[in-house]
Amino acid sequence: MAQKVVVLGGLGMLGQALTDLFRHDPNYEVVAWDKEDVDVTDFTQLREKLVDIKPHIILNCVAYNAVDLAEEDDDQYQKALLLNRDLPGELAIIANDIDAVLVQYSTDYVFPGDIDEKKEGGCGNSSCCGGGCHGGGEKGYGEGAFPNPVSRYGESKMLGEQEVMMNAHKYYIIRLSKLFGNPASSPDGKRSFFDVMLEAGKNKPEVQVVDSEKSCFTYAPDLAMATKDLLEDGDQWGVYHLPNTGAVTWYEAVLELYRQAGLETRVISVTPEAFPRPAKRPVYSALINSKRPPLRRYEVALAEYLSDKK
Ligand SMILES: NC(=O)c1ccc[n+]([C@@H]2O[C@H](COP(=O)([O-])OP(=O)(O)OC[C@H]3O[C@@H](n4cnc5c(N)ncnc54)[C@H](OP(=O)(O)O)[C@@H]3O)[C@@H](O)[C@H]2O)c1
Repeated sequence: MAQKVVVLGGLGMLGQALTDLFRHDPNYEVVAWDKEDVDVTDFTQLREKLVDIKPHIILNCVAYNAVDLAEEDDDQYQKALLLNRDLPGELAIIANDIDAVLVQYSTDYVFPGDIDEKKEGGCGNSSCCGGGCHGGGEKGYGEGAFPNPVSRYGESKMLGEQEVMMNAHKYYIIRLSKLFGNPASSPDGKRSFFDVMLEAGKNKPEVQVVDSEKSCFTYAPDLAMATKDLLEDGDQWGVYHLPNTGAVTWYEAVLELYRQAGLETRVISVTPEAFPRPAKRPVYSALINSKRPPLRRYEVALAEYLSDKK
């Protein structure tokens, strides 16, 4: 019998990739909802619709992602709390009632991002990196690292994680960072950083890019596949880090993008102070995946994305 999957935020960047992947597998029956189908902040309506369908799996891709707006505007911060904290909490309870698995997506922004990349031998503080900094290899935050966000957005996502951990019986919290893939097709849908920079590179002789905020890009179709594999392997409930491999700053990523796209646009490295923004960002927040097979390097995923766009 096919497993029923409900995707919330089905027109978003990640939601589209998940919907597409699961729909291609006859073992799944997929229902994808976005704003037109259900207002997920109307918890009564949401519960009725989910109880009616009784999915085996709920993939929650809805989120409030306007990092700066949430920082500077109290009403927007309340909206962030509603979507990023209260919604996952409610979904956890509904998932228990219908015995469904809840997959909640989260972010590297739950971490402070103050790991010193250049320091020899790791940060020496297990409550910082959860072990990721120790014993050589790539530095970063392991799944067990202690969240301590530096923005209101990061705080709202951390609170959502806590709601799921406290309330859900069967859950995966999957952290990702710097998502890219086909643009969201929702009414307020956004393009990824790579698409924005590709357009800029085609139209300008030079671009200025911040050489900071080092973390791992995540290709939406790769994360969708890694999510499906995790569900099918049935690993222990808990927190997983599933970005692509290879931490880079925004500047380093644009160099790679233009190299692959054959653009000769000049790329100028600037500090974050060149583009002041209301919310603080983690300076170094590579997510270490120590539980699941590593995803391919982001450069390889980017090459595939660019060639599929042609
Ligand atoms: N994008 C990143 O770089 C990034 C980084 C780290 C973690 N994440 C996490 O990854 C997950 C997926 O992110 P994403 O970039 O794919 O998000 P997204 O493109 O913004 O998709 C979210 C979807 O949910 C819809 N939605 C918003 N409010 C809704 C409501 N009240 N009722 C029903 N649907 C609603 C959105 O519609 P509208 O677009 O019309 O509002 C959109 O289609 C999120 O948990 C996010 O926090 C993303």
